[in-house]
Amino acid sequence: MHVRAPGKVNLFLEVGRVLPDGYHALATAFQAVSLCEDIWATPAEGFSVSVRGPVDVSGVPRDDRNLAVRAARLLAAKTGYAGGVHLEIHKAVPVAGGMGGGSADAAAALVACDALWDTHLTSAQLHALAARLGADVPFALRGGTAVGTGRGDELSSALARGRFDWVFVTASEGLSTPEVYGALDRHRERHRFDIEPSAAGPRVEPDVLHALRAGDPAALAAALRNDLQVAALALRPDLADVLVSGERAGALAGIVSGSGPTLAFLCADEAAAADVAGSLAADGFDAHVAYGAVPGARVVTG
Ligand code: C5P
Repeated sequence: MHVRAPGKVNLFLEVGRVLPDGYHALATAFQAVSLCEDIWATPAEGFSVSVRGPVDVSGVPRDDRNLAVRAARLLAAKTGYAGGVHLEIHKAVPVAGGMGGGSADAAAALVACDALWDTHLTSAQLHALAARLGADVPFALRGGTAVGTGRGDELSSALARGRFDWVFVTASEGLSTPEVYGALDRHRERHRFDIEPSAAGPRVEPDVLHALRAGDPAALAAALRNDLQVAALALRPDLADVLVSGERAGALAGIVSGSGPTLAFLCADEAAAADVAGSLAADGFDAHVAYGAVPGARVVTG
């Protein structure tokens, strides 16, 4: 069973208060992009995983800490399936890059095992399992363009027209998502007299939704926002120069993707993205073109 699931970029990410479970309330707009994870699931007695791909996969756990293995085990436990599975993951989404690669693996494993084992869960049941595996996993199941609230796992559709062309610049070393949230908390504590506290909960700015509905990359570029960017840049100050390089090379705007350190550059069209990627590559950066929105985790061949 071959399943493909997309990486994502957060077009907008407002981080609110810390919730009782330690997570942050947030409002985000996700877009699934054409950098994808491929998973092949084959019947096996136990649970195992192998990982390969064009990105550095050395940091990916090959045991029960692997999120795809946890997804398969959770589905087996939920449905009473007694067998196991071998998962072969081909990664194109950078590891610990802020593009939801691990979440895409988990979503792909759920869809692959559900099909392989004939467990036939409804999409609501798959969504509930996905939310237990991580805040971004439900979006990797659903794909397209969506607004996420709660911990990012309560999804509603966002209408989007046309396609959006991106260049992603990957970094050689990943950033830990909990560390980036922790750095944001410390930054806000240090600057609490300068930062106006928002009385209302976080919400996605209407400008983002208008730009998506209009299919207007320039308007979307003007509306991009990521509250985690300040924290990711504090941990990795070198990224600020790369953001400037991408914008100088002709991108409409650059932003840290999720918790970073991958940088996402929105471009006017496919040709502009190819130019920006070419000039960033000539400067020695690892640049990849991609487009959104693409579908969520889906069976490629049975
Ligand atoms: O859900 P996931 O495992 O992807 O989240 C990774 C980490 O990111 C969490 O352990 C938490 O530290 C942080 N996080 C958060 N608030 C969210 C989502 C993630 O604090 N809404």
